[in-house]
Amino acid sequence: MAVRAHPDLGTSPILREVAEGLSAPQKELSPKYFYDHRGSELFEEITRLPEYYPTRAERSILEEWMPELVARLGTRTLLELGAGSAEKSRVILDAMRAAGTAERYVPIDVSATFLSQTAARLRREYPGLSVEPAVADIAEELNLPRRLPRPALFAFLGSTIGNFYPPSAIRLLGRVRAAMEPGDRFLMGADLRKDVARIEAAYNDSRGVTAEFNRNMLRVLNQELGADFDPEAFGHLAFYDTVAHRIEMHLVSDGRQTVSIPGIGQVEFAAGETLRTEISCKHDRASVAALFEPAGLRIESWRTDPEGLFALVVGAPV
Ligand SMILES: C[S@@+](CC[C@H](N)C(=O)[O-])C[C@H]1O[C@@H](n2cnc3c(N)ncnc32)[C@H](O)[C@@H]1O
Repeated sequence: MAVRAHPDLGTSPILREVAEGLSAPQKELSPKYFYDHRGSELFEEITRLPEYYPTRAERSILEEWMPELVARLGTRTLLELGAGSAEKSRVILDAMRAAGTAERYVPIDVSATFLSQTAARLRREYPGLSVEPAVADIAEELNLPRRLPRPALFAFLGSTIGNFYPPSAIRLLGRVRAAMEPGDRFLMGADLRKDVARIEAAYNDSRGVTAEFNRNMLRVLNQELGADFDPEAFGHLAFYDTVAHRIEMHLVSDGRQTVSIPGIGQVEFAAGETLRTEISCKHDRASVAALFEPAGLRIESWRTDPEGLFALVVGAPV
């Protein structure tokens, strides 16, 4: 089968990245490969699961804080990294509308078709708001439009920052910082360190939606690279590493198997061997500061939900 370019992700750098990830001693691929249209839908389903506390906790902080924050900043543009369905972003857009400053929304995401649906829905919901989506792999670039009404709020919700190893997280925040102008602010959601059972339950839901989301990465590789993974031959594994303070999500090979990927070749999996598909780092104020400071940002304000599960952080340029 010919190698097809991934319409959502670009072209041949993917093959190189996948080849590298699958030839490492611990096989590993970026969580961005979860997100074709189906992956984005599955993530939405995860956010509604009873075990998945981060979305509800983050929304509660947004609802309490955004009207005051956005009015004080006079935010005219909202730029959002990894916007997804922009469900929670509506809380910010509503606050901008109430303040009479809602001019531009720039949702950025790697999941192209899902992003254009999100943009179309928002245009209908917010007449008068200019919605300008940008497809980009934020690990590489932000792909921002040139001229934007200022001040702008750069938002990075859903604790997606936790999916990046600290050096990549710092590079990403550095790109945000470089795009900021005086008066702009950065709003970031961070999932907090807490009881391990509570965190692990969020990634091992009883309905198996997270397991399906995990296996979706193999479907994406099959569809977009012509690979022949059998997703049902891999199990879901998610556990908390208390030393690194992170969830690790893996796919576990049921038995010995060989997978073919055109342009890459044969990939062997031993019985029980795993492919790491995601990390989700959990934070406290010091660990967020350790990402912000080398990126040229300082924590201006920090708020948590009443249970202390999740934090929203406002960063300002140093
Ligand atoms: C954990 S979800 C969060 C979605 C939404 N912001 C929320 O808070 O519910 C991560 C989002 O980031 C996007 N994403 C993941 N990796 C990305 C990357 N490298 N570049 C751009 N978008 C990415 C996914 O498509 C998805 O929409």
